[in-house]
Amino acid sequence: MNLFDVYPINDVTIVKAKGSYVWDDKGEQYLDLYGGHAVISIGHTHPHWVKRIEEQLEKIAFYSNSIKIPLQQELATKLGKVSGKEDYQLFLCNSGAEANENALKMASFHNGRKKIIAFSKSFHGRTSLAVAATDNKNYIAPVNETDNIIFLPLNDEEALQECFDTNGKEISSVIIEGIQGVGGINVAENSFLQKIRSLCDEFGAVYIADSVQCGYGRSGKFFSHDFSGVNADIYTMAKGMGNGFPVAGIIIAPHIKPKHFQLGTTFGGNHLACAAALAVLEVLEEEKLMGNATLIGKYLRDELEAIPELKNVRGRGLMIGFDVPEELKDLKKNLLWNQKIFTGESKPNVIRLLPSLALKKRDAEQFIDSIKEEIALLQETAS
Ligand SMILES: Cc1ncc(COP(=O)(O)O)c(C=O)c1O
Repeated sequence: MNLFDVYPINDVTIVKAKGSYVWDDKGEQYLDLYGGHAVISIGHTHPHWVKRIEEQLEKIAFYSNSIKIPLQQELATKLGKVSGKEDYQLFLCNSGAEANENALKMASFHNGRKKIIAFSKSFHGRTSLAVAATDNKNYIAPVNETDNIIFLPLNDEEALQECFDTNGKEISSVIIEGIQGVGGINVAENSFLQKIRSLCDEFGAVYIADSVQCGYGRSGKFFSHDFSGVNADIYTMAKGMGNGFPVAGIIIAPHIKPKHFQLGTTFGGNHLACAAALAVLEVLEEEKLMGNATLIGKYLRDELEAIPELKNVRGRGLMIGFDVPEELKDLKKNLLWNQKIFTGESKPNVIRLLPSLALKKRDAEQFIDSIKEEIALLQETAS
């Protein structure tokens, strides 16, 4: 049997990882500023995370949600404390798409409505509703097409107001990434999130904060939406939540009440996943990684801004993007093959940095030296 070929892949086999580093099968070391697509939050194979999972594995890995799983409550309590959303309610699932799918469904159960507002360049996942709310026609199969989604331009308060004025009583939810990831690191403005909050309050719609990529401390705050000073009704989480162990969830504001069977999952909230997620929160707190994300993120942004060839450096904490001009289009590739540094990208010309939140200053400095060297080499070859 062959693999179903849906991923364009780099010709490299990673066999070992530690902190912000990975090694290939030939023993070559790489600096990982991609974090396996924003997944590595506390660092690859963090010893506390490994120990927590190993110890849990020795006891019990899985049982279904038909029994009490105290680890789930332990996780909810810890998540409430670290995120500051102590009065929210946690529902656990397995992936970012599933988290968003559940959030959109929950909003619709809550207010009995069907329309969803999403934004240009959004990415919310591959399942039916999540993909319908994703602004990329290539990902939407005919069966996912629906006229329940209204796409608006990001950060356009006037368009948002107009849409609510026209369709207000039909809008079930507004879903927005605090910082768009796949769309190219576009920050939702504070005033825009405040506007979403006030219009959702006025019209009885649910504000869903997709924090799958920008959440879990990556921005320097637990949820990047928190920069706006207003709360969402539902936050969705995945990637950094398990540091590579598949676990996801949504937290739901207290005014939205649960009903048996409205949501459900077989694997979500299993013992092993909870142990992994608890380990991540413990390390996040113990090692003050949100502070580190702010500090190292600022260093990186300042240094990148000082490189004249790179344009529009943007982002928050350790979620950074910048535009690469056409004549340097090989920069990402050359960083990987010449400098052994993994970075992320957004088509057509954005480099994305999504490293572990524990990234060290010396690694950030190495990256800055390497990118300058590669820019100079590309310019030399062109002239
Ligand atoms: C903002 C956002 N939402 C949802 C998803 C989907 O997550 P998953 O791939 O875990 O389903 C992603 C994945 O990249 C994402 O970046």
